[in-house]
Amino acid sequence: MNIVESDIINFDLLQSIEGKKRELDTFRPFSPELARKLDEQFTVEWTYNSNAIEGNTLTLQETDLVINRGLTIGNKTLKEHFEAINHKEGIQYVYDFVKKKKELDENTILEIHKMILRNISEIDAGHYRNENVMILGAIHLPPSAVKIPKLMAEFMEWYYENKTKLSVVELAAWIHYKLVYIHPFIDGNGRASRLLMNLILLQHGYPPAVILNIDRKRYYKFLKEADRERYINFFNFIGRSVERSLLIYLNALKSKNDTEDRYGYISLQEASKLCDYGIEYLSYLAKTGRLSAIKINRNWMTTREALMDYVEKVNRNR
Ligand SMILES: Nc1ncnc2c1ncn2[C@@H]1O[C@H](COP(=O)(O)OP(=O)(O)O)[C@@H](O)[C@H]1O
Ligand SMILES: [Mg+2]
Repeated sequence: MNIVESDIINFDLLQSIEGKKRELDTFRPFSPELARKLDEQFTVEWTYNSNAIEGNTLTLQETDLVINRGLTIGNKTLKEHFEAINHKEGIQYVYDFVKKKKELDENTILEIHKMILRNISEIDAGHYRNENVMILGAIHLPPSAVKIPKLMAEFMEWYYENKTKLSVVELAAWIHYKLVYIHPFIDGNGRASRLLMNLILLQHGYPPAVILNIDRKRYYKFLKEADRERYINFFNFIGRSVERSLLIYLNALKSKNDTEDRYGYISLQEASKLCDYGIEYLSYLAKTGRLSAIKINRNWMTTREALMDYVEKVNRNR
């Protein structure tokens, strides 16, 4: 693979992604309740789509029932149920890995793969293939099995060398592509690669990118182009998936504030317009508990009532 390794994603798209990421960071720390809701939503979406691309016939709703309620779906094979459960556990492994700030190494990839094929093909789970394979729907013939240990060692070297040099989105997209190109496993390469790509994104504070099943055809087309060293469409495709997830996160975080608006909360900026105090003084009053207020994300919020109470109290004491 002779690859020019940077500047291959659309510049405006990258700017837009990085801008949205900065906006997302202004909402940190997220409320634990909202973070859990988003994680749950993405776990179902990501599991459903990644497995559907691979041929699993469970619907989004059925996937939810299997992984969150432990139900079995009539007429669906045991294997399909295991695939859903395994993928959910794979995601939990990834979240846990990121939370513990562990360093990615070759063993991480084997661990992720092991979870994907658990109870399905125990001999292959967590082991590189020892036979040659073809990718259904692709022209690219993955490297012969004997080359895999060496190619994987080179892949890790490439990662260590580039992990701080590339933008996060490019790094994640490369990791995904390089791994499916090598196709180190007999099966489960796509799912493992998408988990690994998201591990990179999550490590850097991005939400996971979900490659949608409805985009499967385009995804395969762009992978085929990448096999001919035309990477731009694949990279932009991954970039747009990242942007989509960022938008979902931002919408959820913003509408959280809207909900609170409906409960009558106003920002200190709005409050300052309703009285003679500046934002800084109001913030001091909020911090010292003199003005009844709550902190949402990083901002103090109060209510008109609380503000009027305070103003009246001050007037009375004059
Ligand atoms: N032309 C291609 N070049 C490289 N990788 C490809 C190409 N077409 C498909 N793939 C990857 O191969 C995966 C399928 O391989 P497979 O081992 O069956 O993984 P899984 O079982 O998780 O789907 C796809 O999900 C995709 O990521
Ligand atoms: Mg497969």
